[in-house]
Amino acid sequence: MYKIVTVVGARPHFIKMSQVSNEIAKKNLQEIVVHTNQHYDYEMNNIFFKQLNIPEPDYHLEVGSGSHGYQTGEILKKVEQVLLKENPDLVLVYGDTNSTLAGALAAAKLKIKIGHIEAGLRSFNKRMPEEINRVVTDHISDLLFAPTETAVKNLHNEGLKNFHLTGDVMYDAFLHNIKVAERNSKILEELELKPKEYLLTTIHRAENVDKKSLGSISDAFAESEKLIVFPTHPGTLKYLKAYKIFDTLKKSDNVLLIKPVSYLDILILEKNAKKILTDSGGIQKEAYFLKIPCITLRDRTEWVETVDDGWNILVDSDKEKISRAIREFEPNRHVYAHKFGDGKASEKIVKIMGTAIDK
Ligand code: UD1
Ligand code: UDP
Repeated sequence: MYKIVTVVGARPHFIKMSQVSNEIAKKNLQEIVVHTNQHYDYEMNNIFFKQLNIPEPDYHLEVGSGSHGYQTGEILKKVEQVLLKENPDLVLVYGDTNSTLAGALAAAKLKIKIGHIEAGLRSFNKRMPEEINRVVTDHISDLLFAPTETAVKNLHNEGLKNFHLTGDVMYDAFLHNIKVAERNSKILEELELKPKEYLLTTIHRAENVDKKSLGSISDAFAESEKLIVFPTHPGTLKYLKAYKIFDTLKKSDNVLLIKPVSYLDILILEKNAKKILTDSGGIQKEAYFLKIPCITLRDRTEWVETVDDGWNILVDSDKEKISRAIREFEPNRHVYAHKFGDGKASEKIVKIMGTAIDK
């Protein structure tokens, strides 16, 4: 039986791996899950393992938070130890976090095959930590699983040929979970929210958590006529408190600060929001899957398809642009060229991995 070591550690990984791990379990492959613990709070971590039926990690590396160099270095050191012990046929990594890069590097140094899920995404901004992580990971991986045609084009332009266009595993996860969420989530009742009477926001990107950007975004929120529901990433919460913006938002009638919520609950919050304001990659796509207008608090996006179709508008952290988009942004509801696959990306990826290991 072939052995795959999956290295994960951050919230979006758990969602991305859910359907892939399911497929691995159905095939003649053994999966060893290594959790770096880059994310460790209950709401950023355990809640997903409980809810999404993901295999419990075989290893917890307990790396936690720290500077980029510290975090990446610690993960690299500790994943190497696991790989030496497990001697897998392939290491699987997802996305563009420090856990992704360090997991891939550890495998590359030991000459173990690497599969990268969500390969080929580019913002063309090397100041983003994620851009460095994804470019390096793509260039040291053996199997590049590209979610979109745009991703394939980006890989091709960098001279990489070992790609497979599979569709997006987040679309698979979305399709699998939205119905379950509709049946089971009580989040609207718990928060006393009415459909389409609120906006939903999430913020966590490095470019948005400096004092100026968070201040400008919060000022725009203060002007909103609709309630803004804000599940707050723990890193962002720390900065809101440090800049003394937290108390103002907490007292404000039109902002509802809550802890991060489960995947099923966020899907329901997204589906019933009038508009979504976010810097999250995953949430930009989910807004698009659900046909909810998305206002992206960045000056560029990797998910250009959502902007090309007019469902997503880029406003960075500019107060006036955010306020105008909250008031006026409306997509043309007839334009929608879904380009994220057929919901079977996970199945295709696992099949390709099996064949590649055989060779
Ligand atoms: C990371 C990824 C980012 C991804 C995001 C998903 C990198 C470089 N960034 O950003 O690409 O979009 O995860 O959510 O890998 N913290 C806690 N508890 C936790 C986790 C974090 O308190 O469980 C706090 C810590 O103060 C930490 C800060 O949040 O320093 C940032 O966490 P970190 O994992 O470094 O980066 P993210 O912003 O989460
Ligand atoms: N998410 C969640 N609960 C929350 C906020 C986000 O389950 O309170 C989910 C979201 O629906 C998406 C994923 O987490 O599937 C995105 O993760 P995040 O925004 O942390 O990272 P990014 O996608 O930007 O890398």
